[in-house]
This record gives sequence, C-alpha cells and structure tokens, in this order.
Amino acid sequence: MNSDKTGMHGVWANRWTFILAATGSAVGLGNIWKFPYITGENGGGAFVLVYLACILAAGIPVMMAEVLLGRRGRMSPIHTMQTLAKQENAPGFFRVIGWMGALCGFFILSFYSVIAGWTLSYIVKMATGVFSGAGSDVAGAEFGGLLSDPLQLTILHTIFMVLVGVVISRGINKGLEDSLRVLMPLLFIMLVMLFGYALTTPGFGDALAFLFSVDFSKLSGESVVVALGHSFFTLSLGMGAIMAYGSYMPVQASLGKTVLAVGVLDTLVALVAGIVVFSVVFSNGLEPGAGPGLLFQTLPIAFANLPAGDLIGAVFFILVAIAAWSSAISIAEPAVAWAVEKGFSRVKATVFVCAFSWFLGIGTVLSFNEWSSYTLFGKTFFDTLDFLTSNIMLPLGGILIAVFAGWFVSQETIKHEARIHSPLLYKLWMFMLKFVSPVAIGFIFLHGLPI
Ligand code: PHE
Repeated sequence: MNSDKTGMHGVWANRWTFILAATGSAVGLGNIWKFPYITGENGGGAFVLVYLACILAAGIPVMMAEVLLGRRGRMSPIHTMQTLAKQENAPGFFRVIGWMGALCGFFILSFYSVIAGWTLSYIVKMATGVFSGAGSDVAGAEFGGLLSDPLQLTILHTIFMVLVGVVISRGINKGLEDSLRVLMPLLFIMLVMLFGYALTTPGFGDALAFLFSVDFSKLSGESVVVALGHSFFTLSLGMGAIMAYGSYMPVQASLGKTVLAVGVLDTLVALVAGIVVFSVVFSNGLEPGAGPGLLFQTLPIAFANLPAGDLIGAVFFILVAIAAWSSAISIAEPAVAWAVEKGFSRVKATVFVCAFSWFLGIGTVLSFNEWSSYTLFGKTFFDTLDFLTSNIMLPLGGILIAVFAGWFVSQETIKHEARIHSPLLYKLWMFMLKFVSPVAIGFIFLHGLPI
C-alpha cells in the first residue's frame, strides 16, 4: 500500500554521512548537559558503570536493530512498522513502536528546546563578558536569574524551535550534512581543550574518583532505571529517530561497524563532558547533585579561568547549541516524515510538529518558576515529562524493537539487511537482541520503577 512512498525523503550520500547524521542525533544535550547532572544526582561511579553496561547490553544491539528496521522499511517509523509487521506476519501490536515513538518525540522535543534555549542565552552571556573573573556565586546567581524569568525562557525556547523548524522543513539531506561535517569535529576539539584545562585543576583527581570508583551502596532502584533510560536517550533510541535515519541509509553499508562508531563517539563525549564538569565542581566546592543547572553553573567558572575565556566560552556554547540542534531535528523527524507520507507538504508537517511541541514546552518553562511547587510524586512538569519519556517510553520502545527484530523478523531479512560479515559477531548480536537486551530491560523495569 505504501510501497510508492519508500525512499521519498532522500538517501544519505554514503556510510560516512549516516555516521555523521546519527552522531549528530546522538551527541547533544544528553551528553553534555544531562549525563553530568544525572550522574551527580545518582552518586557517580556505580551509576556510570550501570549506564555503560546498558549501552553495551541494550543500547548497541537495539540500535543495530532499529537501523535495520528503518533500512528495510524505507519509510517513516509509523509506516515502516505497519509494513514490516504485515510482511513478517507479526502481530499488528508491534505497530505501537511507530506511534509511541512519534508521540515520545513530541514530548522530548518540547523540553529539549527549552534547555537548548538556555545554551543560546549563555552564548550571549559569555560573549558579553558577564562571567569575566566569575566564581561560583556569580555563576549560580546568573543561572537562577535566567530560570526565574518565564518570558526570557519562552523567547529563547521559541528561537530554538524556529531554528529547528527551518532545517527540518528544507529536508534533512540539504544543509545538514555539510554543516555537521565541520561542526562535529569542532565540538570534539573544544571538548578536548576543556579536558586539558580540567587536567590542570585541583579537582581533577576527585572528578575521576567520583566518576569511576564504584560504590553500589549509592545506587537506588530508581538510579538503575535512570541509567537505563539515559542509555536510550543518549543514543537516540527507542522512539524511531534512528529508525528514520536508518531508512535513508544506503543498502551496502555494514551495520555493525557503523553503529559501533556512533556508540563509541557518543560515550566518549559524555565521559569527557563529565570529567570536565566534575573537575570544576570539586575544585570550587560545588554540589555534584545540583540538578539540571549543573553544566550552566560550572563551565562559566572554567571559562573565567582560561585565557580569552569569554570568547572560548561563547564558541563552546555555540557548539553545544548546534549539537542540540542536530539532535532536535532527529527527534522531530519521525512525526514529520509520517505527515509527509500522509500527503502534507514538508513545511506544513514541520509547522504542526514544532508548534505542538512548542506549546507543550511552555509547561517546562513554567516548571522552573511559576509552577515549580506543583508536583506529581515529587516531580515537576519537566521532571515528569523527562521521566516518562527517558525512563518509560524509550526503554519500552527498545524492548519492543528487540523482540520484534529478534523474534519476528525472518533470518533472511536480517542477514540481508545487516551485512555483518563475521558469523561470530552476527551470532553474538542475535543472542543479545533475543535474550540479553529484553531480559535486562524487563528486569530493570520491574525492579526499579517506583510502582
Ligand atoms: N540523543 C540526544 C542527546 O543525547 C537526544 C535524543 C533523544 C535525540 C531521542 C533523538 C531521540 O541529546
């Protein structure tokens, strides 16, 4: 029924472009903003270990499956899942992967854009020298001031959403590839530079100890769920973003190496960002569990101590904003691609998705000020959305993808699409997908969810 629509959104130029685009999707606020702050909130080393284990046991195998399904279906995740469920004679229930993913995309984009707005504000703050010579008091006060101003937050959220909409409406091949080719390496260079600075700070050793010495007594059931959820969030898994990107992937490219490259890059960026942030935290007597403001209250202090720090800081936040931008585009892509297949113009589809997410984002804006005292199970509007998406919807999507690809898609299809040449690796992957990933996700769910 939908076969005429396959490939209508374009194809990446080659395997490298896919790696670039998938890394652009994976590397974002999740690595630079979220990973350090949730690690701080969940006690450090043990949490990091569980997160790394989840990446290996669930993230990488599920990511390969998600790319594979996309490449097979060649349509938006909603249509891909409809077609594949029929082709493979699987229960129609698996179509929920597509629908839940698109809905989850609306939710994530809504708060992602608000946080990305903070980075826009920090570009200006850094460039205008607000943090020259600043210590932790100035950094804390500036951040507090930003959060308490709903109008400013809304304006920044709006600017970011418009930037996202502009790129999506033009189609993801045009423009995205060229800009990412330059910007991603720049972001890596900046992080390495900040790492160099962290090395010189007195808190560097404490940062390493905090991140890598494992103390399981600090790990609660909810921490384990958060680590699992974050491994999906950071790899853009479980909601169709990577499936959509996989559907634009040329057929020849081998799956294993490609996905591994993305996973390794993503993890490295998170770990380096974590080391930098906690070096500053421990050098300045700050609180590791400070919450979502952690990045914004620490890095300005680092920059204030660097030569030409205002300039370097401004460039850094520009790069973070761009990393967030390339991720946000992929968050919206499943819903936009579906609407385009339904006959809407790409521009109309984009306006619809962005407008709806924008509106929902106002709830996140208010949760940091006017609504901060309205909570559900102790969670604000933002916390609730974040928990619902990362810790419930994404792992649920992940488990369904693993079960569908592992148990319902025929071996011929998998072999044909995966192009994994080593029989050993292939077997290992199938074993992970069929048994390890679903069991691990299910186990963590049952034990960790506060229900
Ligand atoms: N992986 C992105 C990040 O770490 C966020 C994201 C989540 C992107 C889900 C797409 C889908 O910032």
